[in-house]
Order: sequence, then structure tokens, then C-alpha cells
Amino acid sequence: MSKTHKIAVIGGDGTGPEVAAEGVKVLKAVAKQENISFELTDLDWSGNRYLKTGSPLPDDGLDQLRKFDAILLGAVGHPDVAPGILERKLLLDLRFGLDQYINLRPVKLFPGVESPLRDKGPEDIDFIVVRENTEDLYCGVQGFLHKGTPNEVATQTALYTRRGCERCIRYAFELCKKRNNPKGKKVTLVAKTNVILSHDLWQRTYNDVAKEYPDIQTDYNHVDACCMWIVKNPEFYDVIVTTNMFGDIITDLSGIIQGGMGVAAGGNINPEGVSMFEPMGGSAPKYTGTGKINPIAAINAVSMMLDQLGHPKAAKRVMDAIQKVTGTKMKSQAAGKMGYTTSQIGDLVCEAL
Ligand code: IPM
Ligand code: MN
Repeated sequence: MSKTHKIAVIGGDGTGPEVAAEGVKVLKAVAKQENISFELTDLDWSGNRYLKTGSPLPDDGLDQLRKFDAILLGAVGHPDVAPGILERKLLLDLRFGLDQYINLRPVKLFPGVESPLRDKGPEDIDFIVVRENTEDLYCGVQGFLHKGTPNEVATQTALYTRRGCERCIRYAFELCKKRNNPKGKKVTLVAKTNVILSHDLWQRTYNDVAKEYPDIQTDYNHVDACCMWIVKNPEFYDVIVTTNMFGDIITDLSGIIQGGMGVAAGGNINPEGVSMFEPMGGSAPKYTGTGKINPIAAINAVSMMLDQLGHPKAAKRVMDAIQKVTGTKMKSQAAGKMGYTTSQIGDLVCEAL
């Protein structure tokens, strides 16, 4: 028996708790099979908590989280809370506070899942985006001058550090080495060096790090061209490494070609600290309690979490089970059209394990 992993579960808002519950169901099942020991703590941090107390999480929330080995997040977003508040407090503050400097987004078309890309199958759509997660336009260096007047000026600074670029790019190369793609190992840097001149730091850092990995192919795309290629030739990509803001955009584009927000999962990773895993779907309030929401993304997030916690075999087992269920059972990945309820999908994945 390995060490006991302490896992915090933040179900969050809307359908978040429902999909997180299916993730936990699968976690329990695979942990039993693989003899993994863990301890779960439910945290009711959410929009409802914000409406009751004025804050979605306690004042010492970050310190509480530092005691865990990983966090599973359901979803944030409440119809009665102004957009931005919960996202900043429950997502961005945690990313920054726990220095989760990698946002990892596997883009894989599972068997049986329909992609909006005609003629592209699971063998074509299988890459991973490494998005920097603590710098860029997200760091909050921002201001207004003459606010509310015709002369108003607004600024928001994109901030990049050598250290921030380097740790992200190195993570991407290490991941590429580990993935060992039989079709060829490649790390594509995505930036906008022709216009955003500060991206030269990304390019130089990339060039320096790449020298340490002579058997990995190097590649560069401007972000606009990358959006085109993701749609036209997703098979070009193995590992993409990019800035926080561009990563935000291209991971949603990528999420759609892998079958949508019902399947896409992401990790906010601090390789030396506490990482947080989440389905990308959002809180989908209108489906709350209806059993219609797709939990595959949350189960996918659990697979990523197992991998990060040092259980690649269990992670693969979950990934294989997901693919059995999407490939042979589910009618669709869309909410309400799966042919099963949320909880039945969780059961099917457990059976397939
Ligand atoms: C994401 C989300 C967040 C982001 C929002 C909710 C702040 O879109 O995880 O991609 O912009 O990073
Ligand atoms: Mn986003």
C-alpha cells in the first residue's frame, strides 16, 4: 500500500458537485483495484457560500489547501453572482496562490465521440497543450486613468519572466519525452513574435531549452496560424507550449474538436506542490439535479490526477475505461443525449475498469 493521498473535493456550483461525485466514484473503484489509499475532504466552497458569507472560500482557504496532495474541482459559476468574482477567487487566486504554473490540457478524441471536424478520427486528434498559468495578462497588472470620462485610458500589462517561461517550456519538453509519440516527438511553441515583441523572450528561452533535447523536433506557430492548423490539420501537433492568454483561447478551440466540454479536462499543476484538476465544462446551472450532465470530463480529470499523484497505471486504467464507454455505450457526449444519466455513466466507467 502506497502513502495515503489527501484529496480535497471542491464540487462548486451548479452541476459541479454532480460530475465531481462521478469522478470520486471512479476514483474509489480504481483505488481499490490498484491498492491506492486516499482520504477525501469535501469543501463547500462555491457561489452559494459567497451569497451566504460574502466569500466563496474561507480566509485561510489557501493554507487549508496546502495540506492536501491534490484538489478535484467540479465547476465554478453561479447565476446570481456577477461574472468574474467566483472565477477569480476560486480559480485564479488558487492558481496563483498555489503556484500552479502549468495548465495542462490533453486534447484527445475518444472513440465513438463525434468531432465537428469532418474526416478526422481519434488517430488525428491527439495532442496536448501546455499553457503557462501564472503570468501574462492574467497577473493583474492593470489600471484606469480618467475612468468614466471620454478621456479614459485602460491598461493591462502582459508580464513574462525568464523563470516563468523556462519552467513552462522545460515542462513541455519533459512531457514530450515522456509521451514518446510514435509518430514523432515535437514541441510547437505558439506565440506572436511578429507583433508582440516581448514574445522574443519566449522564443529565446525555447531555443535554449530545446538544445537540451536534440531528439525532439522544434516548431513554431504564430497563434493565429495555429488556430487555423488546429482545425485543418490537428495531426500536426504533439505538444504545444504557449502563453497564458493564447493558451486560454486555443484550449477552448481544441476542446471543441475533441468533442466538447463534456469530455475535456484540465490540470492546474504545480509539479512540486498541490495541483488542481477540473472538467472544462462549467457549472451548467440549468441542468443542475437533472442527471443530464456528462461526467466524462470529470472522470478524465481524475485520470489526470492519478497520473500526477504517481499512479500512471491507475490513470491509464481509467482512461481505457472511459474510451470503452464512449466507444461502445454512449449515444452522444451532449447533455441529455447520452442515452444514460450522469450517475449511470459513472457506473458504466466503473464496470469497464
Ligand atoms: C479556463 C477559464 C479561466 C481562464 C476563467 C474562468 C478565469 O476560462 O480555465 O480556461 O481564463 O483561465
Ligand atoms: Mn478558458
